[in-house]
Amino acid sequence: MISTTVIEQLKQVETPLYYYDLPLLRATLTAAKKAADVFGYHIHYAVKANNNPRILQEISTLGLGADCVSGLEIERAIAQGFQAKSIVFAGVGKTEKEIRFALRQGILAFNVESLEELHVIAILAEEMKTQASVALRINPNIDANTHHYITTGLDENKFGIMIHELEDCLALIESNKSAITLVGLHFHVGSQITDWSVFRQLCVKVNEWNSWFIERGIVVPILNVGGGVGINYKDPDGEAIVNFAEFFALFHRFLEPKPGQHIHFELGRSLVANCGSLISRVLYVKRGVKKNFAILDAGMTELMRPALYQAYHHIQCLTPHPSVAQEIYEVVGPICESSDCFGKQVELPLLSRGDLMVIRSAGAYGEVMASRYNLRQPLQFYFQE
Ligand code: LLP
Repeated sequence: MISTTVIEQLKQVETPLYYYDLPLLRATLTAAKKAADVFGYHIHYAVKANNNPRILQEISTLGLGADCVSGLEIERAIAQGFQAKSIVFAGVGKTEKEIRFALRQGILAFNVESLEELHVIAILAEEMKTQASVALRINPNIDANTHHYITTGLDENKFGIMIHELEDCLALIESNKSAITLVGLHFHVGSQITDWSVFRQLCVKVNEWNSWFIERGIVVPILNVGGGVGINYKDPDGEAIVNFAEFFALFHRFLEPKPGQHIHFELGRSLVANCGSLISRVLYVKRGVKKNFAILDAGMTELMRPALYQAYHHIQCLTPHPSVAQEIYEVVGPICESSDCFGKQVELPLLSRGDLMVIRSAGAYGEVMASRYNLRQPLQFYFQE
């Protein structure tokens, strides 16, 4: 939670702004790293969750790898201290420019998502007289029981290599040995997964696919099981840090790697969500016929998740209110869209113009998904050291 001293400082600055609690970030990273180290697991931070240079610096300092989805993410990750050799590059639509850039950097692996992409990587690596390390992304066809927009592991999703193309991929790799090395298998089922039986199902699929490759005489050194660990948006103080020890123990129990095979993860949200908050001010309180609106100076342009996924974010008032009286508000932003709403039926103290508000757990997929729609002001930041 934000201290009273910091609240006093925030009162003096312009809003909306992103507040980052660096001690909490460090505590989260340390917990994750420690828990992964118990089993010798590798973590690649999913840069898409938050690419703020200051946040990246903290994460790279701990020696984590990176999971990138564009050439510019790779460039920024390296600039902020990540080792190229620890970067994996995913995405269904890598451009030739991005592939060439990644090849020049010498990344750990391309997480390849189609036969055609594999073909292009082979051609470019050959041209550049270099070797591309690739992991084949296999769609495990598991329902992640999460919002359909962030479900990625079903047959109907665009992600991963189609199973009927796998044999052709192996043939292509076999005939392009000078340009491509198969280093891994990659899986990812979705994001904000709170039903951990999904990860148990994932382990079963990974074991099955690993056996499928072994039957063909291939033992890949990397089994990358992706990310997706959900956080508790309802109770960001009670459960500020995910139980990483239990999470990794689950994989240890159910995965069956062969000797020499290493397990890699791509964690985004669970590492950064809770260290970030969106700070805003009440501009107006509008008393409607059926409901009261609290109109903030932050909108969907600063935090898009509620508008896009009807995602819940805990909303609190930071200004002290002596009265215990509460009222129900619809908390909205200033953008010309009805979907620009942070929460309906939010119980808050009796608000007035100028009250300082906080929208919690905005550290993941918050800042990075911001837009300039309505020609909004560039984002402001406050880093709690
Ligand atoms: N690996 C792959 C291949 C992914 O596609 C993703 C996220 C991750 C790792 C990291 O997943 P995480 O640990 O953060 O769940 N904008 C949405 C989330 C999109 C997630 C996309 N993929 C949201 O705001 O909920």
